[in-house]
Amino acid sequence: MIVRDSGTQPVRIEQDVVLARHTVRRLAVECGLRLIDQTKIVTAASELARNTVVYGGGGDMDWEILEDGARHGLRLVFRDEGPGIADMKLAMTDGWTSGNGLGLGLTGAKRLVGDFDIDSRPGVGTRITIARWT
Ligand SMILES: Nc1ncnc2c1ncn2[C@@H]1O[C@H](COP(=O)(O)OP(=O)(O)O)[C@@H](O)[C@H]1O
Ligand SMILES: [Mg+2]
Repeated sequence: MIVRDSGTQPVRIEQDVVLARHTVRRLAVECGLRLIDQTKIVTAASELARNTVVYGGGGDMDWEILEDGARHGLRLVFRDEGPGIADMKLAMTDGWTSGNGLGLGLTGAKRLVGDFDIDSRPGVGTRITIARWT
C-alpha cells in the first residue's frame, strides 16, 4: 500500500467542521470515489468532526490518499485528547447520547464507511479511523 498524499487540519470549532467537510469532499473526488461513496465518507467525517469539537474538546483530522494495486482509498483519522469514551458499548448504541444529540453519529458513521476503528481511552483521548475505497 502506497500513501500518495497526506495532511492534517485542525478540528477545534464548529467552522472547522464545515472546512473538514469541504476537504473530505475534495479528497474523495481526487481519489476517484463514486459520488455515492464521496457522500458517505463526507457524511461520516462530518459526524466525527462534530464529535471531536463537542465531546473531544477539539482535535485534528489527519488524511491520507492511499493506493493499493488498482484501488484508491481515502483514510481519515479524527483524534483528540479529550475525556475519552468510558463505555464503548453504550457509545456504539443507536440513539444513545451523553449530550443533546440524536446518538446516531458513531453508529451512522460506521454503517456509512464499513472500514471503521475506534481507539478511546478515558482520560487520554479518542482516535477514530475511517476509510473508503474505490
Ligand atoms: N471524541 C469523543 N470524545 C468523547 N466522547 C465521545 C466522542 N465522540 C463520541 N463520544 C461519545 O459517544 C456518544 C455518541 O456519539 P454520537 O453517536 O455521535 O451521538 P451524539 O453526538 O448525538 O451524542 C456521545 O454522546 C459521547 O458521549
Ligand atoms: Mg455525534
